[in-house]
Amino acid sequence: MPPQAEAIVDLDAYRANIATLAAYAPNSALMAVVKADAYGHGMPQCARAAREAGAAWLGVATIVEALALRADGDTGDVLCWLASPGADFASATAAGVEVTASSAEQLAEIIAAGARPKVQLKVDTGLSRNGAYGDQWTALVAAAAAAQSAGTAEITGVWSHFACADEPAHPANDEQERVFTEAVAELAAAGVTPALRHLSNSAATLTRPSAHLDLVRVGIASYGINPDRSLVHDATLLPVMTLQAELAAVKRVPAGTSVSYGHTWTAERETTLGLVPIGYAEGILRTASNKGQVAYGDQRAPVTGTICMDQFVVDLGDASAQRGDVVTVFGPGGPTADDWAIAAGTIAYEVVTRLGGRIERTFRGER
Ligand SMILES: Cc1ncc(COP(=O)(O)O)c(C=O)c1O
Repeated sequence: MPPQAEAIVDLDAYRANIATLAAYAPNSALMAVVKADAYGHGMPQCARAAREAGAAWLGVATIVEALALRADGDTGDVLCWLASPGADFASATAAGVEVTASSAEQLAEIIAAGARPKVQLKVDTGLSRNGAYGDQWTALVAAAAAAQSAGTAEITGVWSHFACADEPAHPANDEQERVFTEAVAELAAAGVTPALRHLSNSAATLTRPSAHLDLVRVGIASYGINPDRSLVHDATLLPVMTLQAELAAVKRVPAGTSVSYGHTWTAERETTLGLVPIGYAEGILRTASNKGQVAYGDQRAPVTGTICMDQFVVDLGDASAQRGDVVTVFGPGGPTADDWAIAAGTIAYEVVTRLGGRIERTFRGER
């Protein structure tokens, strides 16, 4: 049965974006960030394509994601960075996955899991999310130095994450770099000089060479999406995902016809409506009701009325559409993921990572 709704993932475009981003940081290793099912694009396939494109590292949030990469056969360098107490550090270490310590307490948990883990230290330089800062950093540095001397852990990296890299002129960027440099110096003064220092996400990779250091961690830009719609750079990023659906119904309606729950849209003239068989259960954001658009051939068809759980309606005007005709929700030749983000009042990261439900993924350019 052909899919009613299909997310087509272009792995050639993904590999090209990885190469483009790598060229922005020629003296740094590249980590392809494939957490959250590769931002909704499919983690196993994207991970393999990232390796083919030369990514030395893969980055994920959780140990479960890292172990899924291993289960898929990936044997390269993998880092994960988000773990609650009781996390399975033993399995991560046994699988050769590098883990992140955000506090002395967490480093102790990792070491207690045994087998001389490879650990990277996270310093909070101003995002105020994970990572150690101030006295906590000093404590983590001391614990890392002790672990290194005792041979209970191998400290392989030190890293942090920007809060405002998508606003290159924001003063927080310089300040975070300064705090990071100080933190690395404090670590070095304690005798710990890991080979990998890293700080840059996509936006910093594109705009902030001073922060490239030993490794850059690229996520959103590798999927062909600008980290911020206003971020200026000269990289050509190719959209990786095309979301398409077949019209499940087409009907001609008279002026005055109201559409979908709440009747929030009413036809001003006779028109043709098309029913797109995906909804908020698939991650089509309901806040784009009456605002999003799809492409029908060369024509844009606006969303009419409220986006429902399984479906939404578009206004095809006087197009001679048929049931089964394909509309492009976003992707080359249609609106962009960011157009949907604008319509929904969010960011394109959320548009792609939320996709799921009954949408089938198909991959182009698999090797
Ligand atoms: C620690 C870390 N590094 C890198 C990234 C990649 O960020 P981006 O998708 O903006 O490139 C993320 C994603 O949020 C992250 O959590």
